[in-house]
Amino acid sequence: MSRELRLTVFGAGYLGITHAACMASLGFEVLGVDTNAARVGQLNAGHLPIYEPGLEEFLRAGLDAGRLQFTSSYPEAAAFGDVHFICTGTPQQPGSDRADLSQVHGCVAALAPLLDRPCLVVGKSTVPVGTARRLAGEIAEACPGAELAWNPEFLREGSAVADTLAPDRIVAGVTSGRAEQILRQVYARPLAGGASLVVTSLETAELAKAAANAFLATKISFVNAMAEICEAAGGDVRDLAQILGADPRIGPAFLRAGLGYGGGCLPKDIRAFVARAEELGASASLAFLREVDAINLRRRARTADLAQELAGGNLTGVPVCVLGAAFKPGSDDVRDSPALDVAQILTGMGARVTVYDPAALDNARRARPELSYASTLAIAAQGAHVVLLLTEWPEFTALTPGRLGGLVARRNMIDARNALDPVPWQEAGWEYRALGVAEEAAARARLDASSW
Ligand code: UGA
Repeated sequence: MSRELRLTVFGAGYLGITHAACMASLGFEVLGVDTNAARVGQLNAGHLPIYEPGLEEFLRAGLDAGRLQFTSSYPEAAAFGDVHFICTGTPQQPGSDRADLSQVHGCVAALAPLLDRPCLVVGKSTVPVGTARRLAGEIAEACPGAELAWNPEFLREGSAVADTLAPDRIVAGVTSGRAEQILRQVYARPLAGGASLVVTSLETAELAKAAANAFLATKISFVNAMAEICEAAGGDVRDLAQILGADPRIGPAFLRAGLGYGGGCLPKDIRAFVARAEELGASASLAFLREVDAINLRRRARTADLAQELAGGNLTGVPVCVLGAAFKPGSDDVRDSPALDVAQILTGMGARVTVYDPAALDNARRARPELSYASTLAIAAQGAHVVLLLTEWPEFTALTPGRLGGLVARRNMIDARNALDPVPWQEAGWEYRALGVAEEAAARARLDASSW
């Protein structure tokens, strides 16, 4: 295999575009591949079809340097690459908890017969354990010099470039020393920068991704379960999370209580993990993840109920302003968005909902055309009886009670992300409610502030 490896990246989604552009920035020649010709054209013209801070600059730098290009031709990709990365999506199957692997299988089925020289196929997509072993057989059968490795990706949307170029750890699921050496060559720069490499079996590599996302989801649902208890018992989950997080054995990350997790990864990955455990006869081991999912979904219903309470028990015809559509700030992704789910539930309860988001409006309109949207925050808030902060964009957390108070008809705020300081809002006459903070605890905060 040549010293200067040439890379292909299959699938031009969040993962594939980021991986292709970042690998080009490391000096590799990279060919991105996607069956969507329009998307290929857009990428070759330097236009990023997704919202990801900093990525467009990397895309353009790669194109300008002549190191990065996109194609929809599999034969071209097979002829080009020494290392083929599979970054296609694995969404949840409609009507089932399982992952839909059709894109991954389709990619390997199309690529394998075209391979005619030694190469490494590297899976990065999130797949149920056992998938890689089957794909490895298909690839080895199609081309004796080709082999498969599994190298799961841990990047987060919103910090995808930094996560790719400076990961905490790189997992190399391999079946030969040669595959390990090739991955060491590909990731030489991040490894020199301090990332650790864990060399393991294909199965452990697949499980590493599922387990990491399951743990993150569990941590969020744990703190949200504590939020439910705080609401029932008169506690304040923000203080509780601070106390828990100060213990280095627990740590503060992923303990932000509120509306819970969404997106294209955590929700579907834990469901697919449970479904796979059931197939393996190990369903008891992951049964707790069903509760993690249930806690997460309960937060959405609870948020809508709080809005109804603040509206005096009936939402019929009540103008409601929803701030946020993206599943988290820094992203335009609305897949399994908690914010849009709440907007939908409120609409079902009879409210006249208007949604605003600084980046995700186009995607939201496509995903939920039945909801009403406003192109500015001011239009969305005008005349509202209840405002719900559902995605903690800086534009929302920087809002002042006076400015927003000048737009709304009634000063009712639900801070479903615990992103605002309640005191100024309460002092400005807002009825302020947060998830995980009992009404009495919120009132105490007001009293404490006034006694100073
Ligand atoms: C997640 C993982 O963090 C990545 O490591 C993984 O690579 C990725 O999934 C994936 O499987 O591809 P991502 O979905 O981009 O990344 O977003 P996160 O930052 O993990 O946030 C997920 C959700 O949890 C968001 O809706 C966020 O608002 C919510 N969250 C996060 C909380 O509700 N509380 C917290 O304390 C943290």
